[in-house]
Amino acid sequence: MPAATLAPYPEAASVEDGRLLIGGCDAVALAREFGTPAYVVAEADLHARAREFTAALRAHHEGPGEVVYASKAFPCTAVLRVFADEGLGCDVASGGELHLALHAGFTPERIYLHGNAKSEAELRAAVAAGVGWVVLDNVDDIDKLARVVPAGARQRVLLRVTPGVEAETHAAILTGHAASKFGFEPERAAELAARAWQHLDVRGFHFHLGSQLFDLEPYREAVAALAPLPDVPVYSLGGGMAVPYKADQRAPGPEASVAAMVEAAHDVLGADKRLVIEPGRSLVANAGVTLYTVQSAKQRADGSRVIAVDGGMSDNLRPMLYDADYEVHVADRMEARGEPAAVVGKHCESGDVLVQEALLPDVVPGDVLVTPVTGAYGHAMANNYNGVPRPPVVFCADGDARLVVRRETYEELHARDV
Ligand code: LLP
Repeated sequence: MPAATLAPYPEAASVEDGRLLIGGCDAVALAREFGTPAYVVAEADLHARAREFTAALRAHHEGPGEVVYASKAFPCTAVLRVFADEGLGCDVASGGELHLALHAGFTPERIYLHGNAKSEAELRAAVAAGVGWVVLDNVDDIDKLARVVPAGARQRVLLRVTPGVEAETHAAILTGHAASKFGFEPERAAELAARAWQHLDVRGFHFHLGSQLFDLEPYREAVAALAPLPDVPVYSLGGGMAVPYKADQRAPGPEASVAAMVEAAHDVLGADKRLVIEPGRSLVANAGVTLYTVQSAKQRADGSRVIAVDGGMSDNLRPMLYDADYEVHVADRMEARGEPAAVVGKHCESGDVLVQEALLPDVVPGDVLVTPVTGAYGHAMANNYNGVPRPPVVFCADGDARLVVRRETYEELHARDV
């Protein structure tokens, strides 16, 4: 299969004699070695995306700037380490993500703590760790943080503004609209900045419009909504850059996204501001695939085919939460197509459908199926529904496979029970 038709698989994926290789490792051999379901990551793609973002920001913005990895997209130590090594900052949205980021070796100075419901304990942990930035979402946040910052110290903060921009994406992952639960309306920015200033070092404003945004125009609208606010040195434009999930989808990609975001900021705010961007999905999504083993293939009364695999909504919630659509292939017959089939999971719900309709050849139990673009929000939202242990994560590069997150064990399913 020529490389162009392999999209949206990792760049470091190839097909030889119909067999899928990820980072030079045979997908079916990986399934046999590590079991299924398994998240398999082409490590080179993570590095490549990080470098693209860093290079794009440097190329388009001469002033200070920072690419910050939104760690919620793929929160595991190995992925965090890649991005720490690549010199990115890290966005964490909870005490748990903060703990992970510190454990993975991020310099506290480069960590941004987000969240619309931070507890005092989370804020205290962040301050104690010396995180560089806390992004304040609401008045209670301001007051809570002011209480935990030691006397005489001034924590650097950004204020999260809801610009009232309705970007086009699934309603559940839209955040910049007026009805959003995140941030506060621009009209209150000056008042809240003054309140925060009494104890905190207010450096700038942050917005995040939503996720999986193909159209970049809303960033311009959002920046425009910030223009009337008090002049500040730092602007964080959030994440949200779209990735292709299907072979026929085209997304702007890191270079074009950063170019458009920076240009909008320059036009409206000037070129000398410190600009922060926070990609999550676009750093990790296409680097990852999920391998499954077929457990059953049957025909319903109406003649339609149903292929059931050994995972489902416990390793990929996105089809259920956002009607997300995925490609699916047979890992050792990548070119083979056949009659339409639904690929369903093993969970006790009719809604547990991974792919509504795929053109798959005949398969039998034991065949390995693969869904691409599961690097973002797959492992991140994995759960134990039906007592299913969460899958491992395997990094592949140059023909070598390395287990970086092992599969959960049955014992771990009751390890917390008292
Ligand atoms: N910054 C902030 C403040 C965020 O809330 C998010 C994502 C990001 C950056 C990164 O956005 P990204 O570049 O990944 O679009 N579970 C959903 C996505 C939720 C995104 C939440 N916030 C999904 O699977 O589509």
